Amino acid sequence: MTSEIPASAHLSMQRAAGTVAAARHVCVLTGAGISAESGIPTFRDALTGLWAGFRPEELATLDAFERDPAFVWRWYEWRRELVRQARPNAGHLALAELARRVPRLTLVTQNVDGLHQRAGSVDVIEYHGNILRDRCLAEQIVAERSRDAGGDLPRCASCGGLLRPDVVWFGEMIPAVAMRLADAAAEDCDVFMSVGTSSLVYPAAGLAEIALSRGVAVIEINPNPTELTTHADPVLAGPAGAILPVLLDLIGRN
Ligand code: OAD
Repeated sequence: MTSEIPASAHLSMQRAAGTVAAARHVCVLTGAGISAESGIPTFRDALTGLWAGFRPEELATLDAFERDPAFVWRWYEWRRELVRQARPNAGHLALAELARRVPRLTLVTQNVDGLHQRAGSVDVIEYHGNILRDRCLAEQIVAERSRDAGGDLPRCASCGGLLRPDVVWFGEMIPAVAMRLADAAAEDCDVFMSVGTSSLVYPAAGLAEIALSRGVAVIEINPNPTELTTHADPVLAGPAGAILPVLLDLIGRN
């Protein structure tokens, strides 16, 4: 085990590995914590630099965008640049490999950074959208940017209207297909893994609750206690980039 994983976690790791190795369908929900080791700040980390003093809840809303689209776009361009420069870490890679080792794995992510796909995961359910795509505010569809529109705001190539990032803002609905597939996985899985999420934001946090209500194993990976911690078993306390590769290795030995 690496030094980042407490020795006391050894038994829990063995138990988690045995449970996952025996699973028919593993449902994994990831949050900002899995990308923290790729250098992307989590949501509930204080913002730094230019954006210190702002809260994501004040920037990631339709109201904020309608009030000052240039300001909200500047925040998203800053975040896009972080995402473009980031690389998938050992946690993302281990989950992509895990999908090849179990009969069925459904990966639901609250992250908008696309790092799971860049690590090799397929059929990722993007619960909160993808920050690298643009959506037409008027037409509500993923859209190309107009090349010749003037002004400093991105405009839709087909209708000339304002573009927004294709992410879910506070108060907005989860994309219907993502919601249906994620619910179905939580209803069907025999192991649920919650990785690097505070379990504070619904409806994503409700997926673990579905699994708990069905009495299936719910494993949590997070260096800090969350809303889910007292209900999950086992809890693997440590960074996802250290825990997941060790778990994968132990699963290989089961
Ligand atoms: P948060 O920022 O709320 O929580 C990040 C979690 O990651 C915390 O529980 C940390 O303890 C944990 N963490 C930090 N470093 C970690 C590491 N190396 N390995 C594993 N875990 C680590 O992020 P989310 O729970 O993902 O929604 O936030 C959920 C949603 O709230 C986001 O998708 C976003 C935000 O508002 C929307 O934008 C709609």
